[in-house]
Amino acid sequence: MNNRKVIVKIPASTANLGPGFDTLGMALSLYSWIEMSVSERTEIQLFGDQMKGLPRDKSNLIYKVAQLVFKEAGVSVPELLISMYSDIPLTRGLGSSASAIVGALVAANALIGSPLTDDKLFQIATALEGHPDNVGASLFGGIVVSAWDGERADYVRIEPHHKLETLVAIPAFQLSTEKARHALPAQISMADAVFNVGRSSLLVAALASGELGIIRHAMKDRLHQPYRAALIPGMTTILERAHQFGALGAALSGAGPTLIAFVDADCPDKKALERFLLDTLKMEGIEAETLWLSPCAEGPEITVEQRSEQTSGSLLDRIKGDVKA
Ligand code: HSE
Repeated sequence: MNNRKVIVKIPASTANLGPGFDTLGMALSLYSWIEMSVSERTEIQLFGDQMKGLPRDKSNLIYKVAQLVFKEAGVSVPELLISMYSDIPLTRGLGSSASAIVGALVAANALIGSPLTDDKLFQIATALEGHPDNVGASLFGGIVVSAWDGERADYVRIEPHHKLETLVAIPAFQLSTEKARHALPAQISMADAVFNVGRSSLLVAALASGELGIIRHAMKDRLHQPYRAALIPGMTTILERAHQFGALGAALSGAGPTLIAFVDADCPDKKALERFLLDTLKMEGIEAETLWLSPCAEGPEITVEQRSEQTSGSLLDRIKGDVKA
């Protein structure tokens, strides 16, 4: 363990997919990397714009989550060398905190010889995040359908359809999950509950069977998006009209503010859809960045090396060529 160095590459995720609030998630081809090894003194190196302002001492989330793994496994590893780089924007609805939690769990577990099962890591990650949708997607890859009762999370993974692509529009402003959850009512009507059970079930069946044409009707939601609309000007127009520009369906990504359109890889005019998203947000005075992302079918990619091999320099040198920028 003392000579071991672990590098993990963790996918971002989109949660809810419209109607599946706190239940559905899909991993996306945008990544974070965490390198972890045992050290004599804890040192935390954070690279990239997304990491600005995050703590570099033992209050860092990665360090704290790693310690949970060691405690659960009954080993003591108080001092760690941790490096992290992320292309996943913070507090935009693309699962940055879930990817950090999953990355820390997976890296720490691999560092001590993987005594904890993936299911155990999923349980810990869900309890830390407070819902299973993003962490499930980042941990297992693909589309993950999950349910959590506060004690145990169960899940089924669905292989993403080979023609499924996504376009995300990431507004230039941040929106905390806490604020976006605060906008939700404590109670909803039976009619709205039935509406969402129907749409969410339809969506899971469509994604599992490859009936992509039904997605447009299945991505509708009455549990959270209508209440969050005021926080994301332009969202309602995008959700209502994205199909006119070739999208299979559209949703708020997680708690927002990112909007996500599901698109058939054969869509004839992807540029028009991209323009529609950007123009709609711009009309509300919102600058945004668009990215075409594929579903990521795999969970974290784990590399374990002997540190003495001196195989590479810093984490950044190591992942150069793989990062977005
Ligand atoms: N299901 C969560 C929500 C995802 O919509 O609040 C964001 O963390």
